[in-house]
Amino acid sequence: MLIEIIYSFLLKIFMDFFEVLGKRRSIRKFRQREVEEEKLQKILEACNRAPSAGNLQAYKIFVVRSQEKRESLATVGRERGFFREAPISLIFCAAPEVSASLYGERGKNLYSIQDATIAAAYAQLAATSQGLATVWVGAFDEEKIKEIIGTDLKPVAILPLGYAAEEPEFTSRKSLKELTQGC
Ligand SMILES: Cc1cc2nc3c(=O)[nH]c(=O)nc-3n(C[C@H](O)[C@H](O)[C@H](O)COP(=O)(O)O)c2cc1C
Repeated sequence: MLIEIIYSFLLKIFMDFFEVLGKRRSIRKFRQREVEEEKLQKILEACNRAPSAGNLQAYKIFVVRSQEKRESLATVGRERGFFREAPISLIFCAAPEVSASLYGERGKNLYSIQDATIAAAYAQLAATSQGLATVWVGAFDEEKIKEIIGTDLKPVAILPLGYAAEEPEFTSRKSLKELTQGC
């Protein structure tokens, strides 16, 4: 009996996880609604569980909330209104020197970026699981972003975070046959 209960509990977790994967999609329009502090904390805690090379966590997450900085994000490069609309933007920056201290060039040029990237991917899924929305923004002028948030670290991804104001179609994917190759 106990085993059955544990099994059904585990099954629920398993299904919930795949439901989250299935629900996540890029959102580029946000409602004027604040993100609850507890939800933000859960997202940041999810990031903090992400694996990293040597467990160095060679990245930092900048939490942008101020109207002024959001406006700067929206108008740097091509206009992106979603940075203005979303109440929060999370900027994931790699800390290359932290990883380089243990792994040299590979840490600097690869692991620190992967550390930041994995954390951002966790953030997207954690946001979805809480009814929030994001879009991964990778096209930006690094120097301008560094100036806005006041850092020398390397910006890798920006996620505007908030409640969706649109319901776009889900995007298609390759078949697993195309995506994978036995070897
Ligand atoms: C590395 C990376 C960079 C991206 N850069 C941008 C971007 O600069 N602007 C944007 O609107 N979407 C960007 N996206 C979002 C993708 O366009 C989106 O994830 C893809 O079309 C699949 O759609 P989905 O997220 O709804 O599944 C980026 C995604 C990734 C992973």
